[in-house]
Amino acid sequence: MRNIKSVDIKRIYDTNFLQIIRKIVLCYNPSTDKENAMEKKVSVIGAGMVGGTCAQRLAEKELCDVVLVDIIDGLPEGKALDLAEAAPVEKHDAHITGSSKGYAATAGSDIIIITSGVPRKPGMSRDDLLAINSKIMKDVVSKVAKESPNAILIIVANPLDAMCHVAFETSGFPKNRVMGMAGALDSARFRYFIAEELKVSVENTNAFVLGGHGDTMVPLPRYSTVAGVPITELMPKERIDALCERTAKGGGEIVSLLKTGSAFFATASGAVQMAEAILKDKKLIVPCATYLEGEYGINNLFVGVPVKLGKNGVEEVMQIKLTPEEDAALKKSAAAVQELVDAMKKLG
Ligand code: APR
Repeated sequence: MRNIKSVDIKRIYDTNFLQIIRKIVLCYNPSTDKENAMEKKVSVIGAGMVGGTCAQRLAEKELCDVVLVDIIDGLPEGKALDLAEAAPVEKHDAHITGSSKGYAATAGSDIIIITSGVPRKPGMSRDDLLAINSKIMKDVVSKVAKESPNAILIIVANPLDAMCHVAFETSGFPKNRVMGMAGALDSARFRYFIAEELKVSVENTNAFVLGGHGDTMVPLPRYSTVAGVPITELMPKERIDALCERTAKGGGEIVSLLKTGSAFFATASGAVQMAEAILKDKKLIVPCATYLEGEYGINNLFVGVPVKLGKNGVEEVMQIKLTPEEDAALKKSAAAVQELVDAMKKLG
């Protein structure tokens, strides 16, 4: 009898103790309002085309709970509810919430994907776009960094490489926790074009793309393969050059088709690929915009190079051997990024 009683008391104690712990956790993390919350939490800032699609992919892969934030009243709440209502059919238990009323719900995020910004409109100069989007980036990053001081930032908003600088400087986070999504998208595009050209599965393809996001990016055919065979052995130079050019201009091709917006399905796929690698500590090698301090002879600049992504973010910069021509193309691309960063600094 004495033993049974002490077990019961212990049970009551354990239950109460757990409830108290839960309440404490809820005070610090208001989004953990369900007992069956996912282990990880990702906030997506900007609930537009890219942000909404990121939220969908993250939830459907059951990688984490998702918080969508935007400044447009009702937009993140509406998209979050719509996605949540699809959950029973899509068979996932990720919780998706939306907020147009501030950042409290993002507290304690493991990753923040930042897509917020405005697109370049006709008549808007590059400097106008830089000024507007860097102001938005500063505002967003200062708020998310306060709520989630240990988060990893994945920047998606354009002009990408310049926005990475703003996020890095504003957050004060170490360089491994600030990165830009460009190479994941560019190499996915290159892989698709290779698969289409050679009539093989996209799964058999691998591609490397270096440099800044834009016309100066550097696709590397020597390191791009089909089932391990470099594409330089599988197609003539003219075809490779054509695919490289199509990759570098891939964003513009979509804009000219959509007319009222820019790419978002593949963009979101690239961002979610990076988030998944971090959440699952995959040590995935993928090209990202990362802060270089001497690697590839580039200093104090965010440039796209292959990195190893794991739970600490950018865990290693992979240094691959470049031919003199490839090296010159990478330096040219880095110079274009530097020009943007300098222009942004002048704008203040
Ligand atoms: N805070 C939060 N959200 C903001 C802010 C801000 N300060 N400013 C703008 N936004 C939101 C907008 O309200 C909009 O809903 O960012 C969202 C951007 O979404 P879209 O205009 O649909 O743009 P999208 O196609 O998603 O592209 C987003 O990704 O690939 C890049 O070039 C693209 O920079 C662009 C970004």
